Amino acid sequence: MRLLAIETSCDETSAAVIVDGCAVSTVVSSQIKIHAEYGGVVPELATREHLRNLSPVVRKALQRAQIESADLNAIAATCGPGLPPALMVGWKAAQSMAYAMDVPLMGVSHIQAHLYSPWFKGKPPVADWGNFEPNLSLIVSGGHTLLVKVDAPLEHQVLGSTQDDAAGECFDKIAKLLGLTYPGGPQVDRLACTGDPAAFEFARPMLNQTNDDFSFSGLKTSVRYFLERRPELVTDNARLPDLCASAQAAIVEVLVKKTIRAAKRERMQCLTLSGGVACNSELRKQLQSACDKNNFTLRLASPELCTDNAAMIGLLAEKRISDGREFASLEMDFKPGWVLGD
Ligand code: KG4
Ligand code: ZN
Repeated sequence: MRLLAIETSCDETSAAVIVDGCAVSTVVSSQIKIHAEYGGVVPELATREHLRNLSPVVRKALQRAQIESADLNAIAATCGPGLPPALMVGWKAAQSMAYAMDVPLMGVSHIQAHLYSPWFKGKPPVADWGNFEPNLSLIVSGGHTLLVKVDAPLEHQVLGSTQDDAAGECFDKIAKLLGLTYPGGPQVDRLACTGDPAAFEFARPMLNQTNDDFSFSGLKTSVRYFLERRPELVTDNARLPDLCASAQAAIVEVLVKKTIRAAKRERMQCLTLSGGVACNSELRKQLQSACDKNNFTLRLASPELCTDNAAMIGLLAEKRISDGREFASLEMDFKPGWVLGD
């Protein structure tokens, strides 16, 4: 199969060409620098940038794959969840292309693509369904934090999710309180490397509750109140690494302990980790060592597939097609609230 995949759910415009289970080319155009000036993603700006970038990004992906658009058998695109006007650009373009080329269109849930991204391995990424194992999966993106039980490819159920802010949102909001630019997650990660995680004690929300849900807005608030009491810390560059390491330690501890607890309860031997926050070095390290301690196997999504990209959309779309899942009608609307898809 030769498939073109498009992703425009937030602030990355991406296209990928998939040939028989391999993402032979992936192009990602990031808008991070544009939104950083405003401290977060501005939907109108994101929409305009997607509109400007989508055609060149698609053209480049096809060129790199050395494939003509006439040779494509299918188109896939993210149809939710995401920012409605951003989703609209990619979804409507995919619908028009599918119509003009007379090929079927597969709609993909962005979060479902994150969920299965640990099964896409190598450079270029290849689908590794042959080694699939039932697993307990932690998805940590900018907008979603989910614990999911996956019994087989495309057979999954949500065990728990965040009740307010997602882990990525919490990283970004704490970073903003510390005066770091958007998106702050990667900067907190970098600064935390030289900091003391025990320097300050921040809340570990819902850690001791036996359910699989998360809540991160209380942690962000506890950091805010703490900084209001100690304003001198924000301007003290020498203490910034300690603040980052301490806040990061709170987020990571909750994520790791609740994930391991759920895996034990569900009797799952394999764990997976995906989404933008899965790039976090401390989270990767702590989850790996907790898995080693419990004799669990851990499959980490590779860093280039953790942040938003069309390769994961296309590789999952191909699986959905081979599994006989329904194609999208050319009239179907995008679905901003479609978290994990069907
Ligand atoms: O999955 P993603 O690219 O976009 C969404 O689907 O939302 O995730 C973006 C999130 C942002 O909140 C960003 O700060 C966070 O992932 N992130 C990180 C790191 N790299 C990206 N958070 C912590 N440490 C990192 N190294
Ligand atoms: Zn994402």
